[in-house]
Amino acid sequence: MIEKIKALLEEVREFNATSLEQVEELRIRLLSKKGEIPSLFKDFKSVDPSERKEVGRQLNILKQEAVKKLAAIKSGLEQEALNKKMSDKKPDTTMPARFNPIGSRHPLSVVRNRINGIFERIGFVISEGPEIEDDWHNFSALNFPEEHPARDMQDTFFVSKNPDIALRTHTSSVQVRVMENQKPPIRTISPGRVFRNEAISARAHCIFHQVEGLYIDEGVSFADMKQCLLYFAREMFGESTRIRLRPSFFPFTEPSAEMDVSCNICGGPGCTICKYSGWIEVMGCGMVDPNVLENCGIDSRKYSGYAFGMGIERIAMNLYQIKDLRMFFENDLRFLRQFRSAI
Ligand code: PHE
Repeated sequence: MIEKIKALLEEVREFNATSLEQVEELRIRLLSKKGEIPSLFKDFKSVDPSERKEVGRQLNILKQEAVKKLAAIKSGLEQEALNKKMSDKKPDTTMPARFNPIGSRHPLSVVRNRINGIFERIGFVISEGPEIEDDWHNFSALNFPEEHPARDMQDTFFVSKNPDIALRTHTSSVQVRVMENQKPPIRTISPGRVFRNEAISARAHCIFHQVEGLYIDEGVSFADMKQCLLYFAREMFGESTRIRLRPSFFPFTEPSAEMDVSCNICGGPGCTICKYSGWIEVMGCGMVDPNVLENCGIDSRKYSGYAFGMGIERIAMNLYQIKDLRMFFENDLRFLRQFRSAI
């Protein structure tokens, strides 16, 4: 029996084929149910116990090598056939050229870049900061009282408690860092991603994007802020845009305001977009609270400043008439492809 195994092993090792039929032929002869190898396994039962170990070993080697060799030759032949098929094919010169799909910027990036550009043109520089913030930069330095609801678990995603580390809820935290590290005059905008623990809906998301601005110098007034924001509104929404400031409250500004722009769809008389009010709310703003300046090491008797902050999603929804904020995050190509921009 051992001779038979050896002879077959020899045959397997020397086997070569030029067609798949030859491979199949050998496979049937050696490996099929009634093939030589299975029948050797059957005969194995009658092998003398003293020879069993060696015969068994050889038989296993034979089987493994046969399986491997046949598979290797088969795949080699298949590949050859494929290559031949490809090279036989003549190029079809009438075929249309291959279309190279070009990506487009995400609408939020387009709008952010436009906002940045508008402020950069009047001397604001971009500053960035960490998305994971400590309590000081996100809340305390900004004059948030100890019990302010925004600090609550309900509004803020905490990474740890004691010391409190959280995902920043606004990019005002970046402005604290700038004030701590630079001397006035300061003119900066901080675009970035922010996080609030809100239920996701057509109008809210737990992740969104902001651009906040800060201007600090000697003698900066509310009128300066108004002029700057009017300039922004006209650049962003068009020459004839008007603005209005409504009193509001933020812990870090005093006085504080909400800024509305005249509806860029109906221009004032009222439509479904502005809910028939003629106005659309776009940002919060106000004069930096002296406490905040002092917290950041800036002399509030010498310097004053204004700050503002807006949500990029909201502006983009308004500009492009997007009804559902979730579309920004779904990355549906049919949606994204509609936005092409040079910036
Ligand atoms: N930080 C405020 C917010 O999250 C926006 C704001 C910035 C308001 C600066 C006033 C001044 O929403």
